[in-house]
Amino acid sequence: AAVASQRQDHDEPLVIGHRGASGYRPEHTLESYRLAIRLGADFIEPDLVSTKDGKLVARHENEISGTTNVADHPEFAARKTTKTIDGIAVTGWFTEDFTLAELKTLRAKERLPQVRVANTAFDGQLPIPTLQEVIDLARAESKRLGRTIGIYPETKHPTYFQSIGLALEEPLVRVLRANDLTRKSSPVIVQSFETANLRKLARMTDVRLAQLIDAAGRPYDFVVAGDPRTYQDLVSPANLRWISGYADGIGANKNLLVPRDATGKLLAPTAVIRDAHRYGLIVHAWTFRAENQFLAVDHRIGTDPNARGDITSEYELFFSLGLDG
Ligand code: G3P
Ligand code: CA
Repeated sequence: AAVASQRQDHDEPLVIGHRGASGYRPEHTLESYRLAIRLGADFIEPDLVSTKDGKLVARHENEISGTTNVADHPEFAARKTTKTIDGIAVTGWFTEDFTLAELKTLRAKERLPQVRVANTAFDGQLPIPTLQEVIDLARAESKRLGRTIGIYPETKHPTYFQSIGLALEEPLVRVLRANDLTRKSSPVIVQSFETANLRKLARMTDVRLAQLIDAAGRPYDFVVAGDPRTYQDLVSPANLRWISGYADGIGANKNLLVPRDATGKLLAPTAVIRDAHRYGLIVHAWTFRAENQFLAVDHRIGTDPNARGDITSEYELFFSLGLDG
């Protein structure tokens, strides 16, 4: 698989620092990404949203009250509003209502303070990075460490952003092109839950693309287009074949690949990995956290030689092994 070129040995899965080392630093900050790299990540994973002036920044969502200190800035109080994002009413402050210069005056805040308690010590300190700054970090760390650190950006709500005149695809390709990162061989994989976004990107660039597949629901652009297919439908052989027409791989919820029983014990892999490979798609799984899933997988490798092909060589990559608390 193409992505394996970054680390040839399948016995050591590629590791994506999901939102950086978000178990140890507030997610989507340069400090979080840097720590992920220093902990051994092969890729870092910025979620991307747009500013008012069309710049791409790393935030898990475009609504930023939970991930920044915007509520502490009286000058922005009047920008609090309610919007419908992908069919859901959301109240707060939105990146698309701030210029990049304004966003740069804010500081990150831990999104899950009750889970990642120690991260709250960094609240109010770390700025919101741009995509360019994430690329610069990956480049600098690659040079320093003598190994290639890739970036695995996820476009967030691209159909919504397109609807408000701030399409994500053009600035994304522009930034990648400016950094000579638009080849199949570039250490970049762009991922999205929305198919239209990836199909548009496939027409614009050669950069590798991964169709995200959730365990439930429907891709939002399908909802908008009246397409009745669900995420579950996307893992059928016919739809994997369709995906292979515009993407290089799938990024599937791990439970679609290796389901678990009611006690949490891993069961035999589904046919999804094999079917995806049949159509030339690389298969990535999300999200492995600071839990024992990898050990459980490793145990399977050790005890069942038949599982080896299904696990070690079939999963090319695990998101955030032990980095995402
Ligand atoms: O790409 C896998 C995963 O990042 C998608 O969900 O919410 O963690 O961005 P989320
Ligand atoms: Ca993501």
